[in-house]
Amino acid sequence: MTSPFSASVLEQRRASWDELFESREWGKYPPEELIRFIARSFPDSGQRKDKLILDLGCGTGACAWYLGREGFTAHAIDGSERAIEIARARLKHEGYQDQVTCHVGGMENLPFAPNTFDAVIDICATGANPWADCLRIIEGVYRVLKPGGRYFGSFFAPGTSMPGAPFISECGLYGKHDRGPLADAQTRLFSFKEMQDLFAAFTDFSIDRHLRTLNNQQYQVELWNVSARKPE
Ligand SMILES: C[S@@+](CC[C@H](N)C(=O)[O-])C[C@H]1O[C@@H](n2cnc3c(N)ncnc32)[C@H](O)[C@@H]1O
Repeated sequence: MTSPFSASVLEQRRASWDELFESREWGKYPPEELIRFIARSFPDSGQRKDKLILDLGCGTGACAWYLGREGFTAHAIDGSERAIEIARARLKHEGYQDQVTCHVGGMENLPFAPNTFDAVIDICATGANPWADCLRIIEGVYRVLKPGGRYFGSFFAPGTSMPGAPFISECGLYGKHDRGPLADAQTRLFSFKEMQDLFAAFTDFSIDRHLRTLNNQQYQVELWNVSARKPE
């Protein structure tokens, strides 16, 4: 399956992530749900260096840094050159550069052999793509996971506040509204049915809803947290 969007639309999306990472500092620490997933899935800290994890759409490397710190061997990939530059600098500064390898690249064409990873993590990265590309990315995730390998990802759900008049791009992504939890970001909001469809080939899946409010309950952020496995 190839992306139905033209190279210029894809390029524009990458450029706007570059611009975002250039203009403001991004969060440095992983979300609590990812920490729980890692603790639950890989409780034996002694064997972690033999576990290979992929951080999909790693941004400036908050989760990749955590994987290094927790003793895993990891790869991290992102389409934004600026994000990868920042991630590499932090990993080097904190001594994890040999454990975590960063790549600039599109998640739609993962440059890894089939059955490579023990786990793939995906914090609001696949969800920043149009539906046709989401299907393609998750197909790729399935391909690169080992049989029995685990997936954890977060996607924005329809209860997330979209104050003002959100701009909807030609490929169906929200973005460029001036305030609220998704200000500046480009993302889709996913229905529960879409989440089920996206992970239909997986097993042991759990699609949980995480709700939080911001600014004294002015805004709401609703996420789907998905954990699933590739069948053995
Ligand atoms: C919301 S940010 C999340 C970053 C990171 N996972 C975190 O939790 O801090 C989404 C990231 O996904 C990347 N991304 C989105 N779609 C992509 C694609 N198709 N190929 C490569 N990177 C992509 C963006 O460049 C951006 O860094």
